[in-house]
Amino acid sequence: MTKADMRKTGKTGITAVGGRLRLGVNIDHVATVRNARGGPHPDPLRAAAIAAAAGADGITAHLREDRRHIRDADIGRLVSEIALPLNFEMAATDEMVAIALRHRPHAACIVPEKRTEVTTEGGLDAVGGHNHLAPVVARLADAGIRVSLFVDPDPAQLDAAVALGAPVVELHTGAYCEVEGAARERELARIRGAAAHAAAVGLECHAGHGLSYDTVGAVAAIPTLVELNIGHFLVGEAIFVGLEAAIGRMRTAMDEARAAAR
Ligand code: PXP
Repeated sequence: MTKADMRKTGKTGITAVGGRLRLGVNIDHVATVRNARGGPHPDPLRAAAIAAAAGADGITAHLREDRRHIRDADIGRLVSEIALPLNFEMAATDEMVAIALRHRPHAACIVPEKRTEVTTEGGLDAVGGHNHLAPVVARLADAGIRVSLFVDPDPAQLDAAVALGAPVVELHTGAYCEVEGAARERELARIRGAAAHAAAVGLECHAGHGLSYDTVGAVAAIPTLVELNIGHFLVGEAIFVGLEAAIGRMRTAMDEARAAAR
């Protein structure tokens, strides 16, 4: 939904309906394809508008230090032209804090970032990084930006998020998605335990990274999770079936898993 559509329909597009599990669509890899040729096509904003029409509750975009996919101008356009709330993924650096304060997205998710990694490899160390993270969380929160910390499903990291005053955590599901069989069950148990711990200590709990049609159901069934952020798989599937269909099928998989778990 664009801001113009929002005015026409009177809908805000901002809140999820009736407490259902929210889906944040990460559009980074639309920008990866765009940047492969240096021109404007395909436009991540067009993907965001399609995501809104397909049932996404939010848009997620990671402005990396090296600008390998999302670029500064994309963030400005996402904030001003797309009605869905923007979850701005960022490293805890002065540069990224300044950009967040300039654009004031709905939410900022602080992620660890290494220049040489292919993707965000592990969670943030909220325990060891307390002194570095505390002023970053405070500056974002003071600006009215909802702060989340992207952490491994480890209760100590969640307690550290509480100590930092972050209201939200996003649990890293990468390890769960990368393994199979008994190892996957173990990782799932860690995510379940962390999601229950998050609720017990008063944190809003999200999850994401590496989720696909095969892996989303068991995570969506965890009752204390309120949001999943999914990108790479959806953009890959869009090549074959189109973005709207890929998001629609993911939305259905999430809703069915939630309903079956009730
Ligand atoms: N959540 C966070 C914090 C991320 O960094 C990413 C990847 O940018 C995602 C979710 C989405 O992961 P994927 O693209 O593997 O679905």
